Amino acid sequence: MDAFLSIGMRWLHLASIVVLLGGIFYARFAVGELAKGFKPVAYGAIGAILISGTYNFLSKSAFPPHYQMWFGIKILLVLHIFAATILYRGKTRTLTGIVISGAIVLAISGWLRWLSLV
Ligand code: HEM
Repeated sequence: MDAFLSIGMRWLHLASIVVLLGGIFYARFAVGELAKGFKPVAYGAIGAILISGTYNFLSKSAFPPHYQMWFGIKILLVLHIFAATILYRGKTRTLTGIVISGAIVLAISGWLRWLSLV
């Protein structure tokens, strides 16, 4: 049961990230703007990312050195992604900013995972 919840939450985290960042990447580089219909999908993805991310964080059994510092930097960039998505009003610059922050957050998340495994 534990494994089921843990893997399920990891899946939810990754699946909603794929939807949010994939959708915004597609909007920035293929279409040029975010379709109106994507906003409700993005809100759903943000909610799922928050729930699964909080679960992942609270279910960690130990925090290696420097983990909290990198996690704090990740959360600041995540706040930029969420706020910029919610406040998006048609500017390409906003989409570019989200794509850049998203790429850095993915790198930091990989680093957090690595820190936890070694
Ligand atoms: C756009 C926003 C976010 C992106 C792109 C992102 C990306 C990722 C990725 C790629 C992983 C690695 C998944 C894995 O190893 O299973 C991860 C893990 C994690 N995420 Fe996020 N995340 C985001 C938001 C959040 C938020 C809001 C929280 C907390 C409230 C959070 C907390 C965590 C935690 C605790 C882990 C586990 C890291 C570890 O292995 O120690 N994430 N995230």
